[in-house]
Amino acid sequence: MLTGLVTMRRKLVVGNWKMYGRLVKNQALLQGVSEGVRQLNGADYAVCVPYPYLAQAQSMLQGGNVAWGAQNLSPFEEGAYTGEVASGMLVDFACSYVIIGHSERRGLYHESNETVAQKFAAAQKSGLTPILCVGETLSERESAVTEAVVATQLDAVLDHFGAAALSRAVIAYEPVWAIGTGKTASPEQAQAVHAFIRQRVAKHDAKVAEGLCILYGGSVKAANAAELFGMPDIDGGLIGGASLVAEDFVAICRAAQ
Ligand code: 13P
Repeated sequence: MLTGLVTMRRKLVVGNWKMYGRLVKNQALLQGVSEGVRQLNGADYAVCVPYPYLAQAQSMLQGGNVAWGAQNLSPFEEGAYTGEVASGMLVDFACSYVIIGHSERRGLYHESNETVAQKFAAAQKSGLTPILCVGETLSERESAVTEAVVATQLDAVLDHFGAAALSRAVIAYEPVWAIGTGKTASPEQAQAVHAFIRQRVAKHDAKVAEGLCILYGGSVKAANAAELFGMPDIDGGLIGGASLVAEDFVAICRAAQ
């Protein structure tokens, strides 16, 4: 009888370096992270670095227990798309993950839900695990439309590709008002949205929903990580600023044990 059994989802901590880094600085950061995390085996760990540093991440992290990935990709396989990077190129550098639909891309580069869905599909077609970001702005939260906003962002993928596609994906709930502001969502606020996301997926497929890894992102620090990761539907974190300091990122990874 399966009823009543609690599924233990493996936690995942992903660093999103955004547009930070230089070769020399990265060297120390990647070394610090890979050494600091080497003894940990209770969760999965990754860093999503700027494109030019994928080769550096690959050469420094291969053979260890920190995976790497990118922060964006083109929805197209190849072609005359100046400045774009295709999923196959990320595969060439052994990426495991790619962040899709980060709020900075939705907001600053006007990525629509439709584009996000196309990028999601391109990632999966190449065998990459998309980390699909969803989340509301401050004014949306204040207007009490958080669930509606997150539902629309989620449905853009669910309606196109079905719940089965989410069995090979990660969701990151990142309230825009908590990103880079130092204002973390409280564990209860985050948990409520995570549970909403899981329930919405469960309407399509309960098993996929139960196994779905849902990360929280937005001012996660060593000091608040354990409390957030202790919530039943929070399966780890997507870490911005704190992923740029090896000891901070390692402390967050430790909190996911
Ligand atoms: P901060 O951790 O700097 O708030 O950034 C969160 C984020 O956007 C991760 O993708």
